[in-house]
Amino acid sequence: MRPLAAGLCAKNPFVLGPMAGVTDSAFRTVCMEQGAGLCYTEMVSARALTYHDRKTASLLSVQPCQRPVIAQIFGSEPEVMAEGARIALELSGADGIDINMGCPMPKITGNGEGSALMRTPELAARVISAVRRAVPVPLSVKFRAGWDEQSKNAVEFARMAQDSGADFLCVHGRTRSQFYGGHSDAGVTAAVRQAVDIPVIASGDALSARASVRLLRETGADAVMIARGAQGAPWIFASCLSLYIGHGEILPDVQTHIELMRRHVRLVCSLKGEARGMPEIRKHALWYLGRLRGAKPFKVRMAQVSTLGAFEEICSEMLKARLQVKE
Ligand SMILES: Cc1cc2nc3c(=O)[nH]c(=O)nc-3n(C[C@H](O)[C@H](O)[C@H](O)COP(=O)(O)O)c2cc1C
Repeated sequence: MRPLAAGLCAKNPFVLGPMAGVTDSAFRTVCMEQGAGLCYTEMVSARALTYHDRKTASLLSVQPCQRPVIAQIFGSEPEVMAEGARIALELSGADGIDINMGCPMPKITGNGEGSALMRTPELAARVISAVRRAVPVPLSVKFRAGWDEQSKNAVEFARMAQDSGADFLCVHGRTRSQFYGGHSDAGVTAAVRQAVDIPVIASGDALSARASVRLLRETGADAVMIARGAQGAPWIFASCLSLYIGHGEILPDVQTHIELMRRHVRLVCSLKGEARGMPEIRKHALWYLGRLRGAKPFKVRMAQVSTLGAFEEICSEMLKARLQVKE
């Protein structure tokens, strides 16, 4: 595998993608422990960083065990993005900065940010150039196949990003109008890979270890980004590595599955405190349970769990129940 940029060598080609509200510090730690080669922070607003918003700054708190890590920012004003990138780097000590040009959410695109920048490539170029000048670390841009089926401009957009100073790219093969539905078009990523000289990370439908290794090979990309496939399954990275080197998939047994969920939940509580952490961890716990056959009776309780003690009690009962890992 090629290094993604000078000075940025991912440990392997299986990368934890940015997910707002999901890839916080605890989840990044668990995924890196399970073999992810690189991880991304959640996206943060460059404008909020320039206002020194404390909540936004807290999203960029990075532990050494999460490195290499990329801090992702979004926004559409070149000078604000440049200043935001400088602050993001200072706060996180990250190994690189990524610019989000793929977010489909109306509250982001409505401001001309995220994937809306694919409709204004001249402005996108100015944003990339401004951030390039502002930070000395590797710079990447994450974008989609295009805005909609009629305007798939990923290849031209990729060339523009390269010419504006990006060191590597990440392509999600869906259009903005698809949001997260339908299928991701791996052909678009393969075409981008052919069109530029810089490394490319493939994203979209890397929902299992098999799908991730297939996406890597089909697109010829330098790395593959795993997002929803890691929810409730951080071991997907170890499984990808095992498949990649010619061994089989790794599926943890029920005990290991529950142990990893406990590790994740304890980490959240130690980083955020029990009162704040427990409500946040419920969705993760439900993702873990969703991957176990026979866990339905525990889901209702898990959806309301509010203390670490109650969570541990559910885990002990789960260990005694006849659960099976879903294939
Ligand atoms: C809940 C959620 C939050 C996401 N947040 C971000 C984000 O903050 N920045 C970003 O670039 N992509 C974000 N994404 C997109 C993912 O990084 C990834 O590109 C996308 O989910 C496609 O991969 P998948 O089909 O394998 O999940 C998010 C996706 C999900 C499901």
